[in-house]
Amino acid sequence: MNESSDFKQNANSNAQVEKPTVTRENLVEFIADIFERKGSDSYLGESVTMSQHMLQGAFQAEKNGADDEVVAAALLHDIGHYTSEFPADMVGAAQDNYHEEAGARLLEPFFSPRVVSCVRYHVPAKRYLCVIDPAYYDDLSDASKQTLALQGGLMSPQEVQEFAAIPYLEDIMQVRRWDDLAKDPLQKTPPFSYYQPILKRLVEAGNA
Ligand SMILES: [Fe+2]
Repeated sequence: MNESSDFKQNANSNAQVEKPTVTRENLVEFIADIFERKGSDSYLGESVTMSQHMLQGAFQAEKNGADDEVVAAALLHDIGHYTSEFPADMVGAAQDNYHEEAGARLLEPFFSPRVVSCVRYHVPAKRYLCVIDPAYYDDLSDASKQTLALQGGLMSPQEVQEFAAIPYLEDIMQVRRWDDLAKDPLQKTPPFSYYQPILKRLVEAGNA
């Protein structure tokens, strides 16, 4: 058995099977395995799969000149939909949270605060952008307009003021806009493996 197959999960496994330990050394392959097994899940209400959506987010980021941290954030922004794939000790406090917070907590031990913030705030960024840029709301997909209400609706003036002060706001808003564009069933992208060296470099650099 080679090293990378140690943690590969059986596609037919159920939740009772013990999950492997996720470390800095195997995190990227662990996520690659999730993309491979679960990437064909549909992305709620949209005509792309989850992996198409996340890869298109990264593709948009790279095409628009984003640096590695922001490309990684765009690629992993929805990883919180997959908390059930991660071992219990890692999921811990993340499992009862919304996917953006869950994703941020899963990534926090491995990636910089900039990457983590883009993941953590990509949903409130939608609520924020809808207030500060009315054209942004008009361009949202129907599914995204529908989920806006469930996500808290438009931000209040006080929420807008507070959100405007958080670090990495520009990056967070960019990731959000690329998230919104990453729903094109015809858009081709590089595979996940293309982004693995970027993720590995960032994980090696650590979470400072
Ligand atoms: Fe998304």
